[in-house]
This record gives sequence, C-alpha cells and structure tokens, in this order.
Amino acid sequence: MSEPLSDFGVIGLAVMGQNLARNVASRDHKTSVYNRTTDKMTELIAEHGSETLVGQETLEDFVHSLAVPRKVMIMVKAGKPVDYVIADLLPLLDEGDIIIDGGNSLFTDTVRREKELSEKGFYFFGCGVSGGEEGALHGPSLMPGGSEKVWNWLQPILESISADDFSGGKCVTHVGADGAGHYVKMVHNGIEYAIMQMIAESYQIMKDGFGMNAGEIADVFETYNKGKLASYLFGISVPILSKEDPEGDGFLIEKVMDKAGQKGTGRWTAIESYQRGGELSTIAQAVNARVSSSEKEKRIEYSKLYTPPVSSHEKLDKDRFVQQLEEALYVAILVSYAQGFDLLEKAAEEQNWNLNFSEIARIWQGGCIIQAKILGTLQDAFLEDSEKPLLQIESIQQSVSAGWADLREVNKIGIDVGVPLYCIGAALT
Ligand code: 6PG
Repeated sequence: MSEPLSDFGVIGLAVMGQNLARNVASRDHKTSVYNRTTDKMTELIAEHGSETLVGQETLEDFVHSLAVPRKVMIMVKAGKPVDYVIADLLPLLDEGDIIIDGGNSLFTDTVRREKELSEKGFYFFGCGVSGGEEGALHGPSLMPGGSEKVWNWLQPILESISADDFSGGKCVTHVGADGAGHYVKMVHNGIEYAIMQMIAESYQIMKDGFGMNAGEIADVFETYNKGKLASYLFGISVPILSKEDPEGDGFLIEKVMDKAGQKGTGRWTAIESYQRGGELSTIAQAVNARVSSSEKEKRIEYSKLYTPPVSSHEKLDKDRFVQQLEEALYVAILVSYAQGFDLLEKAAEEQNWNLNFSEIARIWQGGCIIQAKILGTLQDAFLEDSEKPLLQIESIQQSVSAGWADLREVNKIGIDVGVPLYCIGAALT
C-alpha cells in the first residue's frame, strides 16, 4: 500500500519554516518539508520527524508527496528568493494548486505574484505570520490574503495552527484579496516599531531623568504589565531588563551597544503613509529613531560638540511620574494603533480591499508581537462603530482625553531632562 499523501508542504527550513512545519504536523495534518540544502531537512527530520512530518530530498518528490490541490507554504527570505522558489515550483505543479508566501513580503510583490499566478491557473496567498520562532511553533497570528474560495480550503489548517484570541477563537481570518494580508502584517510591524520605541523612551526617561537602574525599571514594567498595558512587549521587557551581567557588575542591558538596525517593514509602513497621504507620525518617528540609533558614530561626534542644558528632577516625585507614564503610554499606544488603522482604511479604499477592523484587532490578540490587552478594547470599539476612525469612537475618545494631561506632563519632563521622546512626543502632537 502506498503512503498517504501530505496535506501541506513547507519549503524553506530556517527556524521559522521548521517551526511552522512542526506546528502543522503536530495538528494531525501530514506535512512534507523541503529545503534547498538537504542537510537542514535531514537534521529537522532526525530530530522531529514523525508519521506526520516527512522530509523530501528533491523538489519533485516534495511536490509528488502532496495531495491535490497542493498547498505549499514558502518560508524563505522576502524578495527575490520568493520569486526563485515560485519559478522552480511552477513547472511541477498542476492548475488549481496553492502557493502561500509566509514571509514578510512587500505587499506590491504579493499583488504582482497573485496576478501572475492566477493568470496561469494557480492560486497565490500572501500570509503575514507574526510571533517569531516561538509563535510559529506554538501558535502564531496569521494574516492571509488571497481568493475567498481558496480561504475555505486553507481555513481548517490555518485555524488549527494559530494562537487563541481573547474569546477562544483563533488568531486568523481571511484578511482580504491579494496583498491585503501582507499589508496588514506590514502595518502590524510598523505599530510594533512604535511600541518598542515608546518602551525604549520610557526606559531612558526613567534612567536619565530619575536615576533608576534597569532592575527598578523592570519592576515598573512588571507592574504595567499587570494593568491596562499588559502585552507581550512589556512582558518580555521585564526579563530583558532584569538580566544581570554574568561577567561583571550591573545589568546586561546597560552593556549592550545602543545601536539598532531594521529589516525594513517599519520603513515600508512609513513610506506607505507618505504615499497615501495619511499621518503616521508615531511609526515614522520610530523609524527615525532607529536610523538615529544606527548612526552611533555621528551621535558620539555631536555629543562632543553640544552639551544641552538639562534640569535635574531630584525634586520630582518618582512614584507619581511612574503613574503618569503609565497613563501617557496608554494614550500614546492607542494613538499609534489608531494611526495604523487609519492607514489600513486608506489602503483598503484605494486597493479595493474589504478590511474588517474588528477582525484585525481580534487576530492580533494572540500569537503576534503586538498582542496586548488593549486589542480587546480596540475590537470592542470597532464593533461599537465600524465606520469611524478609532480616535473618533466615543470609548477611545474618552480614554485619550483621560490620559492627555499625563501625556503632556511626561513630554514636558522629557524635554526638561533632555531625553528625546520621538514616539511619545509624536503621539501628543
Ligand atoms: C513578527 C515580527 C518579525 C520581526 C520583524 C521586524 O511579527 O514576528 O514582526 O517579523 O520582528 O521582521 O524586524 P526588524 O525590527 O528587525 O525590522
């Protein structure tokens, strides 16, 4: 008797691809895997191979191991590599087969690929995958875009592998046509940049303005993470900041070079806002902050030339500031989400995508990097009124108004103590 065919295939076995394939296989969907360099595949199978996770040495064997319509997920670096894999695959596939791109592809590439492949009789899905390596293995947030008909075929598999939302649903939905899924993932990443930058600014103002060390700041974030700022990003900041230097005194974070790079999805989001003419200041400023961070040598030269006057905050009440900062961050983060959703609305109109904002707020509730308690509030707000921009919905307007004074106060203190507040400042503006 011949072996049963696989329900799903994954090409590209770097850690994201490996973990995603293991996730699918663990949900009782037989999964074939293939990698251009065979060693990666054999290592994965040696360690995790099973009845439902099988390796193939050649692309031909891989394709023949799949049940039709074949469902092939490509997990390779965004850009040219995706085109190369598609070009190799096409001659082996049959009409009606489905290719899913799970990388952080630029949405215009996804629109182009979807068009080219549908003209040839194939289906193409651009699927945002968020949650890093852990998410890919245990439950990511998935943002698939492509044809409605194909969504029905993919839905059971994608639902089985994705994270849970706040009400027991799954963090996946059919986002829209062609590039909609990758667009939503791009905006997700832009918001991710802004929130990370706001966390960095909070760290710096507590450190430089109030003389707090990384351990004390970790304690503050731990408290925030039990309240309305509860989120993955605040959560991971606690162990990062509290880690002591294993080779010396003090906290490890204080020894890490303050020089950050970027893969580019935040930059794409900012560029999109300029092209479409919608304000996205918090995300654009997060990109600016990354650029400034990367220019360490220049910053060192400037610091030799300029000694800005700064005030001491010895007389200020630290405990009160920590409370004000929590309120300020809540508003600033709300503004950043609101700007992201405003961009989605503009894009939806221009690209003819039927985006459902409460659904997007729902599928970001688990698995992804920006998962946060606040997303429950946003989902409810969009259910309250799906037509208005977020900042015009009454419940959100009330939250912003309630924290406005604290946001202003935090910005004033930032200016006084000489800490640049790119994103927290942009949110106030
Ligand atoms: C995710 C992340 C992941 C990564 C981004 C941003 O959702 O799992 O967004 O995709 O964090 O690629 O990377 P950079 O910050 O390096 O640009």
